[in-house]
Amino acid sequence: MHFFSLGFLCASLIALTNAQSTFSPARPPALPLAVKSPYLSTWLSAGRDGGNGGYLAGEWPTFWEGQVTGWAGLVRVDGQVYTWMGLPGSTTVNQTAYEYTSTKSIFTMHVGDAVEMKITFLSPITPNDLRRQSLVFSYLDVSVTSLDGKSHSVQLYADISAEFVSGDRSAIAQWDYGVTSGGVAYHKVHRQTPLLFSENRDQAEWGDWYWATDSGPGLTYQAGPDVDVRGAFSSSGRLSNSNDANYRAISNNWPVFGFAHDLGSISSSTSALFSIGLTQSQAIQYAGSSSTLSPVPSLWTSYFNTALDALNFFHHDYQEANSLSSDLDQRIAQDSIAAAGQDYLTITSLSIRQAFAATQLCGPADNPYLFMKEISSNGNMNTVDVIFPAHPVFLYTNPELLKLLLRPHFEIQESGHYPNSYAMHDIGAHYPNATGHLDGNDEPMPLEECGNMIIMALAYAQKANDTAYLETHFTILRQWANYLIEDSLYPANQISTDDFAGSLANQTNLALKGIIGIEAMSVIAGLAVDSEDANNLTNYAHDYIETWQTLGISRSAAQPHTTLSYGSDSSHGLLYNLYADRELGLNLVPQSVYDMQSSFYPTIQGQFGVPLDTRHQYTKADWELFTAAVASTSTRDMFIRLLANWINQTPTNRALTDLYDTTTGG
Ligand SMILES: *[C@@H]1O[C@H](CO)[C@@H](O)[C@H](O)[C@H]1NC(C)=O
Ligand SMILES: *[C@@H]1O[C@H](CO)[C@@H](O)[C@H](O)[C@H]1NC(C)=O
Ligand SMILES: *[C@@H]1O[C@H](CO)[C@@H](O)[C@H](O)[C@H]1NC(C)=O
Ligand SMILES: *[C@@H]1O[C@H](CO)[C@@H](O)[C@H](O)[C@H]1NC(C)=O
Ligand SMILES: *[C@@H]1O[C@H](CO)[C@@H](O)[C@H](O)[C@H]1NC(C)=O
Repeated sequence: MHFFSLGFLCASLIALTNAQSTFSPARPPALPLAVKSPYLSTWLSAGRDGGNGGYLAGEWPTFWEGQVTGWAGLVRVDGQVYTWMGLPGSTTVNQTAYEYTSTKSIFTMHVGDAVEMKITFLSPITPNDLRRQSLVFSYLDVSVTSLDGKSHSVQLYADISAEFVSGDRSAIAQWDYGVTSGGVAYHKVHRQTPLLFSENRDQAEWGDWYWATDSGPGLTYQAGPDVDVRGAFSSSGRLSNSNDANYRAISNNWPVFGFAHDLGSISSSTSALFSIGLTQSQAIQYAGSSSTLSPVPSLWTSYFNTALDALNFFHHDYQEANSLSSDLDQRIAQDSIAAAGQDYLTITSLSIRQAFAATQLCGPADNPYLFMKEISSNGNMNTVDVIFPAHPVFLYTNPELLKLLLRPHFEIQESGHYPNSYAMHDIGAHYPNATGHLDGNDEPMPLEECGNMIIMALAYAQKANDTAYLETHFTILRQWANYLIEDSLYPANQISTDDFAGSLANQTNLALKGIIGIEAMSVIAGLAVDSEDANNLTNYAHDYIETWQTLGISRSAAQPHTTLSYGSDSSHGLLYNLYADRELGLNLVPQSVYDMQSSFYPTIQGQFGVPLDTRHQYTKADWELFTAAVASTSTRDMFIRLLANWINQTPTNRALTDLYDTTTGG
């Protein structure tokens, strides 16, 4: 985990439009629109500093990094034009409701008393269906209903701009129009000169973008300058069926790619479906166990011969994708409510699509990989301490996905392409280049990553009943355990995953991770048929945990608690590494430590959460929830309530963060 500058803007209240929308279950800092991969990640800023409060009409959707990705929607009702998405200029419809689930964002809009629009952004998540999960596509479904029982003449328009195809607005875009044999009309847009495996402002500089809808008698299309295309629709309700072939810079008379559906005279309900997505036949560069870098294909190329086949499948798959996604929504809703109530669901249902959208499936179908980008920090690939906070969602949805995330780590290190005896931090300094670290000069987090790798290997094996996995990787896991034996009781001066907080010797929480890692290795040794070694390891772990309690606990304080580092009695920190003791069923750490921490945290809570440690007022949302998961019920509920409240109140306007200020909400 590595944070560079996080420039928080001053909070300033933006006057809201006349319309008043409800937000359910909360109004998050950014509303997820099309959120499916590191490169298909489009949001609506909702925060008070720089957002309009969460209204789809009247503000441009943006890429997660903040730059506008033009996406506009207009509707003509009885000859009058209104905007329902973006900021193309006309009067806006009135948003009355916004709701999110784990896979959907649903807006309700009113056009006077005449019609109601339901606008659904669906980014499907199918953890057990890798063919569907491999498609970097998202749906936009717009249904229009007469509100007053009268019939209304309705035409519906939506476009994307070339801003999707590059972070460099002076880059030349090129485009095409076509209809698949399955009747899907599409605009295909790309950089005229693709820069393979390159990024600009975190946008992909290669691959083809598709913006598609059903062809048919009521459909017209047009590619051209934004003013012309949107103007044509506004004045006539239709487009010219023409494709401006004057390929030019993204910002030069802003080329946009529009569709207009004439829905005719509506007295009840009708709808139109759009799909947006990115196809990159080559997605990643990876060396793995070989010493030369090779391109790795996107996994969808194993299932579909061409990008158009993939698009055609995706667009026609809406019913099934919607039904699979609704099943997942429901399962997460039921399990979250049962586990810890509505506030917990507010958090989980906002998190899951974002966690999945940090990843991309690649490789051949019989031997796939899951690659992950460390988003909003430095772009590292498959960072172990970024996989770690995300790993419960993969264990919960499909443990196989955790195995696919860890796979390149084992391949690189077991083939001798990493010189250090401790576990590697990431598989490459910048996505999508998994170049490894032959020189061993990755960001060193030795104790953190050795502990994480052993803990996650066992967590996966337990959940998937896959003991063979532990046997296969025993040698290197045992090597990392040796590092823990040497370094975990008295951790050398080093950074933890919270690298932005600085380095420190004898970190109490980091030591705990290492000691739990040794006990986890003892279980692994037992399962992988070496009971003598298991005994040896568990002796170390029990020995260490006894001593750790004498070193890392401040007992003289009014409210005893673990410290940030040994001997610093007035310090404290979230003891989030305790989570793995429960997760793996180790029972290494005495219940008294759990109870002590549960009593302590409420005494140091801020308005929006519990600080990460005594060095700063900020906290980590992920570590708060790891802490909550092993706390008493009332302390758990406190953590969850404060975080759900932060989501609803923060003045910030970006996708759900894991780092925020517990007093200002910034
Ligand atoms: C939006 O609501 C306001 C206030 O009720 C009303 O004046 C305006 O006409 C509405 N606009 C539309 C497009 O329905
Ligand atoms: C990935 O490596 C290629 C060279 O193979 C380079 O052109 C590209 O800029 C790199 N991408 C990133 C995001 O660093
Ligand atoms: C693992 O085994 C347990 C107990 O036999 C069983 O309930 C569970 O379904 C199995 N899990 C998998 C992923 O096979
Ligand atoms: C770590 O703690 C031990 C025990 O208190 C102490 O002896 C040692 O000097 C500390 N290490 C550092 C680098 O401060
Ligand atoms: C126990 O493990 C340690 C660390 O790997 C090793 O040095 C030692 O020889 C082992 N002891 C026995 C009895 O196997």
